[in-house]
Amino acid sequence: MTKLEQIYEGKAKKVFRTDDPERFIVSYKDDATAFDGKKKGTIMGKGVINNRMTNYLMQMLESKGIPTHFVEELSDRDTVVKKVEIVPLEVIIRNISAGHFAQRYGVEEGIVFEEPVIEFSYKNDALGDPLLNSYHARALKLATKEEIETIKDLAFRVNEALKEFFLSVNIRLVDFKLEFGRTSDGTIILADEISPDTCRLWDKDTDEKLDKDRFRRDLGNVEGAYQEVMRRIGLG
Ligand code: TMP
Ligand code: ASP
Repeated sequence: MTKLEQIYEGKAKKVFRTDDPERFIVSYKDDATAFDGKKKGTIMGKGVINNRMTNYLMQMLESKGIPTHFVEELSDRDTVVKKVEIVPLEVIIRNISAGHFAQRYGVEEGIVFEEPVIEFSYKNDALGDPLLNSYHARALKLATKEEIETIKDLAFRVNEALKEFFLSVNIRLVDFKLEFGRTSDGTIILADEISPDTCRLWDKDTDEKLDKDRFRRDLGNVEGAYQEVMRRIGLG
């Protein structure tokens, strides 16, 4: 498959058109940002880790019946994915209080919820990705009622699969962000990435942070934490 012109550059990835109209190539960068891009940096080797980890997890999810955009890993940083139109919603699932949830509602981090929490934000950098609910999303025509139902159902199923998987390598899945896309026939599938950039991952025994909070909060050893997750998964 041939990489043609770049059609999009995000904060952590680039997307290229290919000679197949139904396929894109995503290319993972080492660039890291936080707080709506106000904090910028580089996490050496992150692109390679996030590419391989995302592909591994997407294949695991496919094996459990969750449709994803994954097609084929081309190289360390490049992956062929199905062409989708991204639904402009950041879908966040939380199992344990942390981050914006703790800040917004004035509670400590580490409270284990009886049931997972789902929230949406509007994927719009200029507006700072504001929190919204499904009625807002429909009013803004970001997705239909049926699409939102499908997204919720898939997101909770992804949570169950990922929670179990990470627990098997002694990691607690605190929270994470997903993005979904529409294929040309209108099917909703999981897109974007699943990595320590987009998940909070805590060591089960020590609660040590093994994710991008080490970068956001200047905790040090960012690369080491990403490598540790790879090692535990058996990819490192
Ligand atoms: P939050 O607590 O900052 O809302 O983050 C919840 C989860 O979503 C956390 O695992 C990090 C992830 N996330 C992203 O992947 N991208 C983002 O832009 C934000 C704000 C969070
Ligand atoms: N990547 C997001 C940004 O740059 C935020 C984050 O992950 O904290 O704003």
